[in-house]
Amino acid sequence: MRSINRQLLALLLTALTVSAVLIGVSSYMEVHEEISELFDYQLYQIALSHRDQKTFDLQPAAASDYEKDEGFTVQVWDPSGTLIYTSRQNTTLPRATTTGLHTISAGNEQWRVYLISHLGRTIQVSQSLTARQEMSVSFIQRTMIPICIIFAVLAVIIWIVVRHALTPLNRIANGVARLSPTSLEPLPEHDLPVEILPLVKRLNYLFDQLGHAFDIQKRFVADAAHELRTPLTAITLQLRILEQSSGEEERIEALDKLKSGVNRAARLVGQLLALARVEPEAPRFTIREVSINSLVTEIISEQSRIAADKGITLAAQDDEPVIITGEPDALRAMISNLVDNAIRYTLPGGKVDVTARNTERTVVIEVADTGPGIPLEKRELIFDRFNRGQRTDATGCGLGMAIVKSAVIRHDGSIALGETATGKGLKVTIKLPRYPLN
Ligand SMILES: Nc1ncnc2c1ncn2[C@@H]1O[C@H](COP(=O)(O)OP(=O)(O)OP(=O)(O)O)[C@@H](O)[C@H]1O
Ligand SMILES: [Mg+2]
Repeated sequence: MRSINRQLLALLLTALTVSAVLIGVSSYMEVHEEISELFDYQLYQIALSHRDQKTFDLQPAAASDYEKDEGFTVQVWDPSGTLIYTSRQNTTLPRATTTGLHTISAGNEQWRVYLISHLGRTIQVSQSLTARQEMSVSFIQRTMIPICIIFAVLAVIIWIVVRHALTPLNRIANGVARLSPTSLEPLPEHDLPVEILPLVKRLNYLFDQLGHAFDIQKRFVADAAHELRTPLTAITLQLRILEQSSGEEERIEALDKLKSGVNRAARLVGQLLALARVEPEAPRFTIREVSINSLVTEIISEQSRIAADKGITLAAQDDEPVIITGEPDALRAMISNLVDNAIRYTLPGGKVDVTARNTERTVVIEVADTGPGIPLEKRELIFDRFNRGQRTDATGCGLGMAIVKSAVIRHDGSIALGETATGKGLKVTIKLPRYPLN
């Protein structure tokens, strides 16, 4: 598993080590060059110091300090080419061919030499390049020790800082671990780095939304159970009456009530299912081109018998093809509930008109009736679940308009309640963009 902690430490410590190595290598190169220049100059100085010497003893008493420590060898030849002096008995180096500074090979080693001629004598001062290198290395070793200590201290500081910087993340992880679907406590937002604060704020917002959705869901289930209890109690009661009834009349009455109880329960279950399908959280179903004209025709033919029984004229006005890209089931539930309401709440002899038309970017669906209408102050409330206004009759369950509103929201549309042209009745106007879903 990937760990930010480990990744950061690995990156920073690698960068630190690479820097240390680079500093070491570049210092070595620099120091070596400086030392070489310095020793070349020293070769020249030593040669000069031997130039004016009158006599040379082939057996010197002892090598001087610089000769011992820094590996210099001084050789002197007389005009006939005979070696008359050497500072190291056991070191025989060839003579360079020309005067000046040279690098020559002798044995397995490279030597740096300086040769001068004076009054027929030749003086050559040499130094082994291996000796030079050893001196550069020992110098670098001494300078690198404090650098290495500083880098080790830096590594420890980096380790502590990285651990410390990541503690807010651990705190959040612990906070999230304590959460459960039943207790969505917001995570603490104080003392958080700016990089993490937006994430925590967003999480808290989502928890809040989730908690809200849970509450709504719980209330909905409780309301639904409560609403279902009424028709089921009535059904049980009527069944008992039916069992005990002796007369035909009593039996028919009980059967009638039983039928309406079953219808009511069936209606409630149907409405609950329809609502569950169009809720904003519900997954998207088939999205395709839907002909509103066909939907209206189907719904009107389904409900025309109920309208006719009530003496209500049900008509559609859709002269042009009205087509929308959307969810057929949601659109059907939406129009069907509006027509159902219009027929249900309009008195016999009334009229219900369903209109569908196009505007430049939207389609407009209107359902107008000649019923009692809804007072202005009550209009917003009828979209709430299980809210039936002043109605107490057993014919509805108060979910129709909630279904309508959810379907409108799913299609990014708008809904408005108003009066018809005569000032009476209710006119519901829905506007839906023609290509709302993606
Ligand atoms: N066309 C209308 N005319 C008058 N009142 C209406 C009309 N449409 C709805 N209402 C009022 O709004 C309330 C809510 O309507 P909604 O369709 O949500 O529930 P319902 O019709 O009571 O039950 P159901 O879920 O079975 O449709 C109704 O009870 C009624 O009081
Ligand atoms: Mg209704």
